[in-house]
This record gives sequence, C-alpha cells and structure tokens, in this order.
Amino acid sequence: MTASFAASVLSWFDHSGRTHLPWQQNPTPYRVWISEIMLQQTQVTTVIPYYQRFMQSFPDIKSLADASTDAVLKHWEGLGYYTRARNLHKTAQLIRDQYANEFPTTLAEVEALPGIGRSTAGAILSLACNQTHPILDGNVKRVLARYHALEGYPGQSAVQKQLWAYAEQHLPTQRNAAYTQAMMDLGATLCTRSQPACLLCPLQTDCQALKQGKPTAYPTPRPA
Ligand code: ADE
Ligand code: SF4
Repeated sequence: MTASFAASVLSWFDHSGRTHLPWQQNPTPYRVWISEIMLQQTQVTTVIPYYQRFMQSFPDIKSLADASTDAVLKHWEGLGYYTRARNLHKTAQLIRDQYANEFPTTLAEVEALPGIGRSTAGAILSLACNQTHPILDGNVKRVLARYHALEGYPGQSAVQKQLWAYAEQHLPTQRNAAYTQAMMDLGATLCTRSQPACLLCPLQTDCQALKQGKPTAYPTPRPA
C-alpha cells in the first residue's frame, strides 16, 4: 500500500500535474523559497504577477539582501501578511552574511531560517534539490486525513504527529520533487475542501474516507 500510494500519485502527476508555474522553471532554492512564502497565504493566480515582478527586481539572494526594506515591501503591496516580506528580507541578509549568498541545503539549516517551518523547508529542498522530505501544508493534511480517515482535529499535536508520520510513510524513494508538487496539486485541484473530485483521484481505490462514503467528513473540524 505504501509504495502504490506514491506510484499512483506520480503517474497522476505525469498527466494532470502543474508543470508550467513560473517557479517551476529553473527551480533554484532561491526561486522556490520566494514562491513558497508567497503561496503560504495567497492563491496561485494572485501570486504569479507578484512573483514575476519580484524576480525581475530581485533575481538572486544578494540583490534581495542589498535592497532597501521599502523596496521589498513595495513589491509585497496587496499580498498582505507583511511579516512574510520582512522575514524574506532578513533571511536574505542572513544568507548573504553567514552562507556567502548560497542558500543552505540541509533540512536543519533551512528550518532554522526566519519564516520557514518544517513543511516549507521540506518543500524547498524537495522541489529545488529533489531531496526526500515530507511536506504537510493545508492541502496535504486534507488528502492524508481523508485517505486514512483520520479522526481528530489537526490542530491537536497528536493528530498533527500522525499526519507527519503518514507523510513520511508515503514518500517515494525517487522523484521526490515531482511527488511534492503532485501532493500539493492533488489537494488544490482534486481533493478540495467541499467538493472533492474522487472519481478522478489516483487514490480512490484505497481512500478510507471515500470508502465510508463521506470524504468531506475529514479532516475533523475544530471542536466548538
Ligand atoms: N502552494 C504551495 N506551494 C505550491 C506550489 N509549489 N505550487 C502550487 N501551489 C502551491
Ligand atoms: Fe480526496 Fe476523494 Fe481522493 Fe480520497 S478519493 S483522497 S477524498 S479526492
């Protein structure tokens, strides 16, 4: 079951995954990092023009680190959650000063950077370096909670821990970059919050929530 999960997801990705997003072209750690931070609270279609302008002005770590805070914030105008932009700027300066402008490539180093949690660190290193790390953003939590019919609110630490364990368990040994993108795409395009397209889903034969006839019952909502 573990092997077939990743294999099914990967073969679905090969015909239905997204491969033309701007940050997927020349996916360096820097470019993927900026995209992942923008995508944390903002939809893909909104992010794209912001991402293009940001990359025009700040094509690499050094240009971002050396920019003024005002210039960086100006590129963020309209995206909201300005802490993200301040953290990006601060982190670029840290990488300039402590890593000689080279984005670090171990999970521990990346996770320690301001504004980058475990899931984003895993996403950057898998998408940009094809390293094997799990991710667990909102979309992936929903897919895994449904696939395993996991009871309990994901805001609880025991439930969160189980979801990370599932995410680890399903990792492929190859093509982790494609797999990571595939899991994000599956959650964003098929296994959506209110109307999952189970009939098109590569996981439909083993999905426990679908088997129970109630895919949207998972993840368990926040207790009142
Ligand atoms: N949301 C978060 N990361 C993403 C990515 N790499 N592609 C599309 N949507 C995303
Ligand atoms: Fe989500 Fe449906 Fe796929 Fe299960 S079968 S993972 S509920 S889309």
